[in-house]
Amino acid sequence: MASPPQINVGLLGMGVVGGGVAAALIEQSSDIALKIGRPVKLKKILVRDLGKHAGANLPTGMLTTIPEEILNDNEIHVVVEAMGGTQPAAGYMKQALASGKHVVTANKEVIAKYGPGLIYLAHQKGVNLLYEASVGGGIPIVGSLMRDLAANNVHSIKGIINGTTNYILTRMANDGAEFSQALNEAQQRGYAEADPTNDVEGIDAVYKISILASLAFHRSVSPGDVYRQGITRLEPQDFRYASELGYAIKSLAIATLQNGNIKARVYPALLPLDHMLAKVDGVYNAVEVEGDLCGKVLFHGLGAGREPTTSAVMGDVIEASRSLVAQDESTKVSASQNRSSEPDSFDYADALTEDRETGSSENSIDDLICKYYLRLNVQDRPGVFAQIGKVLGDGEISIASVLQKDTNQAEQTAEIVITTHPSIESSVQASLKALTELDVVRNVSNVLRIEE
Ligand code: NAP
Ligand code: HSE
Repeated sequence: MASPPQINVGLLGMGVVGGGVAAALIEQSSDIALKIGRPVKLKKILVRDLGKHAGANLPTGMLTTIPEEILNDNEIHVVVEAMGGTQPAAGYMKQALASGKHVVTANKEVIAKYGPGLIYLAHQKGVNLLYEASVGGGIPIVGSLMRDLAANNVHSIKGIINGTTNYILTRMANDGAEFSQALNEAQQRGYAEADPTNDVEGIDAVYKISILASLAFHRSVSPGDVYRQGITRLEPQDFRYASELGYAIKSLAIATLQNGNIKARVYPALLPLDHMLAKVDGVYNAVEVEGDLCGKVLFHGLGAGREPTTSAVMGDVIEASRSLVAQDESTKVSASQNRSSEPDSFDYADALTEDRETGSSENSIDDLICKYYLRLNVQDRPGVFAQIGKVLGDGEISIASVLQKDTNQAEQTAEIVITTHPSIESSVQASLKALTELDVVRNVSNVLRIEE
């Protein structure tokens, strides 16, 4: 097939991301033509509600509420999906790929849940499915894992990959902001997902780490395989205690390869204040990749918001357009790139309809070994530490430090913070259960892992 004289783009969605992409395609049209050697034009934009966009400065007829005007238009070569959610987004992407269009998406949920099937379809059709914007906003981490680091055996990925939670945690740590106030600000700035539960409960980060782990370890990691804990149980005193102990609190997404098994998890954790990731604040994201050849490589940049995400989406639009210009050669390149995250034995037909869950605290990380931070509310009377120490000792958990704060004389209670030496997760969980059964322990207020 001859490559088209002009590359036409259809855009699904014109919110935070789609609005930035529309503006870039319209305002930077001649710059893009220079980069590709061919004009790239925005032809149609799908929205739900035309009235909402009545004031938009767009050519007449560019907006539509009818998806077929993009999906069935043979003159549209690249479809950019910036709607969010799984359906109808995944269905539209499937339809676009099936009719031979290149697809660019910012949608981590669709890629995490339906990626293998869509990648297979793209491969079959010889087109690109590109999703740089799905992880890390403007940070080029997806393409780096697909191509630039592909020669490595990756040992681990550790990162801060949700801008909303990092913004919230930074405001809480540095300014003593309330959780709800900081979340509201993140929403105003366009960082948060349509349903911010996905951000604060770690679901968004689960999608992203499953995408990164699939690329890094060359096998399908489903969101359902990822252990998940959100940030909603963190309280102001956790930040004060962490700081006193020499730590920051960050929501981390981690995937490691141990004895051939991938262990992926998302949870808030304590990090030494001098750790590189501890210094990543606000809406910034950072991902540390450790490979056998490259050693430790750190990617750092703006993880959410209109401009950084537009940067990533437009990079993919330009790549898809270049593929169209170099039609024959690109078919081979795109197929081999997409193959990098294809597992050897995967039922692709099922994957097109399969919903691969959102991560869960039920997923086992029982054999994880790390240090722990425990915050307990206890009775303030003699012998309490002895009882707690015995339970931890019986579980082979060695105490590294103890702080006693915030005594309530009227109620005769105290808050104590214990840090441990490296311990096995299953022992810690069993000991926590035993601690809650002690009369002297009013409650276990928080449990956080300490990463080094
Ligand atoms: P958004 O502001 O809520 O915009 C969504 C857009 O999609 C709106 O224009 C909406 O139409 C349209 N839309 C939604 N459902 C539709 C449907 N069924 N039919 C037609 N149009 C529909 O969302 P966003 O923040 O731009 O996020 C879009 C995607 O980018 C998501 O997958 C998100 O995870 C991802 N992402 C976002 C960021 C970020 O910083 N915001 C960063 C990276 C990735 P109306 O305008 O008519 O309502
Ligand atoms: N809600 C996401 C975040 C947007 O805060 O990181 C970018 O994926």
